[in-house]
Amino acid sequence: MTEKVALVTGAARGIGLATTKLFIEEGYRVVMVDRDGDELAAASKGINSALPLNLDISAPEQVDEMIERTQAHFGRLDALVNNAGVADFGPIEGTDFKRWRTVMETNLDGVFLCSQAATPLLKQSKGAIVNIASISGLRASTLRVAYGTSKAAVIHLTEQLAAELGEYGIRANCVAPGPVRTKLAMAVHTQDIIDAYHDAIPLNRYGSEDEIANVIVFLCSPKASYVTGQLISVDGGFESTGIGLPSLRSG
Ligand SMILES: NC(=O)c1ccc[n+]([C@@H]2O[C@H](COP(=O)([O-])OP(=O)(O)OC[C@H]3O[C@@H](n4cnc5c(N)ncnc54)[C@H](O)[C@@H]3O)[C@@H](O)[C@H]2O)c1
Repeated sequence: MTEKVALVTGAARGIGLATTKLFIEEGYRVVMVDRDGDELAAASKGINSALPLNLDISAPEQVDEMIERTQAHFGRLDALVNNAGVADFGPIEGTDFKRWRTVMETNLDGVFLCSQAATPLLKQSKGAIVNIASISGLRASTLRVAYGTSKAAVIHLTEQLAAELGEYGIRANCVAPGPVRTKLAMAVHTQDIIDAYHDAIPLNRYGSEDEIANVIVFLCSPKASYVTGQLISVDGGFESTGIGLPSLRSG
């Protein structure tokens, strides 16, 4: 097979689905992985060059199956996008160990498991890994003891991967999205939170799935061939503003 192959986790909707569609536009074949079988079936319908896999990336044996089936179907892997994530916002006293583990299992363990399992195929292709963190991994906030910590760990895990796998020609980078109106975000963003984000973000708006996907696909492409170990916030300027007080703005 000569076409490049990308594997996107959490590909049934949101940022993962937008990334899948952009990869297809760029001529990649895509392995679409998601544990929501119904959404995955609906999303992958009509995408002929995709291989949909209804699997849970927090389960080690399912991650092994994911790589075995990728190898059997396409025989190669050029890009791994660790995008699957869950959000669960709550105070520390309300975050029992089960809730903590549920967030960590997907957001952190899943990124580790998928990166580890994909490494042999990525060595062959000198491929790329892009991990999806969040601005919540860069700035602490109330209610995000588990989510924010999981995303901060993903940022460091990316650097570990870049440091260790660079000698094999594998690049590893991280994208930290700002707020995007996906199902995940809308489940935890009240109108008050939406208004506060608009105030805190220099571009004064949420991002779109496509705006995140553009950066992910760029980081996987040869145009980013000397970029590794980096974190790019795609967040309308949220992370770059120190004292971004709305009252200090002209408008
Ligand atoms: N939307 C935002 O505002 C925002 C902001 C910052 C970061 N992010 C991150 O972007 C990524 C994508 O989020 P989204 O907003 O598109 O979410 P989404 O909920 O729309 O999509 C996530 C997909 O991942 C799948 N998934 C979750 N856990 C899985 C698992 N263990 N195995 C397989 N599939 C699994 C879900 O079924 C779902 O289809 C997540 O990592 C999220 O934390 C999102």
